[in-house]
Parts: sequence; C-alpha cells; structure tokens
Amino acid sequence: MMFYQDRFVAKEEVHLSPDDRGYYFGDGVYEVFRIYGGSIFEKEAHLRRLERSAREVRIDLPYSIQEIDDIIRKLILTEGTVDGTLYLQITRGAAPRAHPFPADAKPILLAYCTEVSRPISTITSGIRVITYEDIRWLRCDIKTLNLLPNVLAKQTALDRGAAEVILHRGDLVTECSASNLMMVKDGVLYTHPANHLILHGVTRAVVLRLAKAAGIAVEETPFTTQALGEADEVFITGTTVEITPVIEIDGKPVASGQPGRITRRLQTSFDKAILG
Ligand code: PDD
Repeated sequence: MMFYQDRFVAKEEVHLSPDDRGYYFGDGVYEVFRIYGGSIFEKEAHLRRLERSAREVRIDLPYSIQEIDDIIRKLILTEGTVDGTLYLQITRGAAPRAHPFPADAKPILLAYCTEVSRPISTITSGIRVITYEDIRWLRCDIKTLNLLPNVLAKQTALDRGAAEVILHRGDLVTECSASNLMMVKDGVLYTHPANHLILHGVTRAVVLRLAKAAGIAVEETPFTTQALGEADEVFITGTTVEITPVIEIDGKPVASGQPGRITRRLQTSFDKAILG
C-alpha cells in the first residue's frame, strides 16, 4: 500500500504521470524516516527538515505537517511495519516539460513503508570506504531528488569493493553519499558544520547530542583529508546506517583497523535512544 497524491492505494494501482517534474528535472524533495518497533524515530526532526527543503525550493506542501503526520501514521498502521523505513517524496507536480514553475500544477506526494532490519553486521564489524571528490551543487542542505552525483559516487565505491565514499571538496572532507561523517582525534569528535555543503542529518544531530551528554568534546569544523588519514576513529551516521564504523579508507586501515572505543560508546547510547 502506498499513499499517492490524495489516496491510499495498492502499488499496482499507482499511475504516475510521465510529465511529473520529478522525472524531468528531479524537481522535488524527499525524506527517509526510520521505523523502530512500529514508531518513527525523530519524526519531528524529519518533518521539520521536509518543510524546510520544500520551502527552500519553493514547493508548496500539498498537505499540512499535521496531515502528513496522519498519512505516515496510517501507512505504518495499515502495513503493520515494525522495523523499517518510510520513504516520502513531494514533486512540484505534473506539467508539460518546460523549466519555469508550471502555473497550475499541484505538488504530488508519494509515500510508502518498507520492512528493513537493522544493519547489525556492518555496525558491528565496520566498513571499508574510498575518498571521492564532492561534485555536488552548493545547496547540499536541501534534501532534493537530484541525487545523480550521490549515485555515481556510491557506485564507484561499490565498483572498487568499498561500501561508501567519503566526499571532499578540494582538501576538505564534507560527508558521504547517503550519510554524514565523523572522526575522533585525541578524544575530540570532529564533523563538518551543518551549512550549505552537507545534509543536516537527523542522525548526526542525535549523535552530537549523545556525545555532548557523555562529556565528549565536539568540534563542528571542517577538516582535511590528511587529518582524516590520521584519525583515531572514523564513523558514518544516517537513518539507514545508524552509527557505522569505518575501518579502512582507500585501502589504509583507520588506526588499528578496528571500530574505536568512542564509536562503540556512542553506538551503545544510540541503541538506548532508539529502543527507548
Ligand atoms: N540519506 N547525507 C546525505 C547526503 C544523505 O543522503 C543522508 C541520508 C544523510 C544522513 O541524514 P539522516 O541522518 O537524516 O538520515 C547525510 C537517506 C537515508 C537516503 O537518501 O536514503
């Protein structure tokens, strides 16, 4: 079952318009929510970001946040999703292809749930990653459907036997293709500031909160690829990856090549946060 435009329908009954601006221009915004035990984790933060993304690209939400919340709730209840994700996108609407905003197109909402278990194996053993030039635009804080640079980056990682890419603009590390990046050096947790060059990850914010509560010093400041190579610990954060340790970058082990002590501590706090 999906929610499409104005109703709940079976996936087979969703008839998408070829004129949807999502196809022509990637003209839309989206969110991926995580469902744990039948409830959405950090729902308000995701809804706030959705509202902001839509505002930044000048798409009028087709429903109020309260109505979207009701749609989401109904989807999870009807599907009986216990652990999984909820995908939601809003495109500017369907209209014959032309760059200007269409005068009378109505934004189109699509949402559905998928049952997915937690990534236990990778959060336990960690992942290998490669570095990759960040060729995205300068509004990475908006969660838009335009994900081609992210797709190309991710596929390059997979082609090279890695699980993810660490993106950098010149010397400075930004984030990953579908997650944020953090590193630990001499007991201090570093991550890129939440500006226009990265997505303001919901998981990132949770982890920074947990770190501060645990008395870990946090520095939201850009750092270089060289500093990354000298890190004591590196991990990625995101709705689908939670806190996943990075154990190797470009074929070189991170410190001892094992998930680090602070990473493990944060994972334990994160588990407590999601399990209530
Ligand atoms: N991606 N950075 C980018 C570029 C992302 O696409 C994501 C999430 C994140 C992490 O944000 P959050 O903690 O709010 O999930 C960071 C989603 C999961 C996706 O596109 O599938």
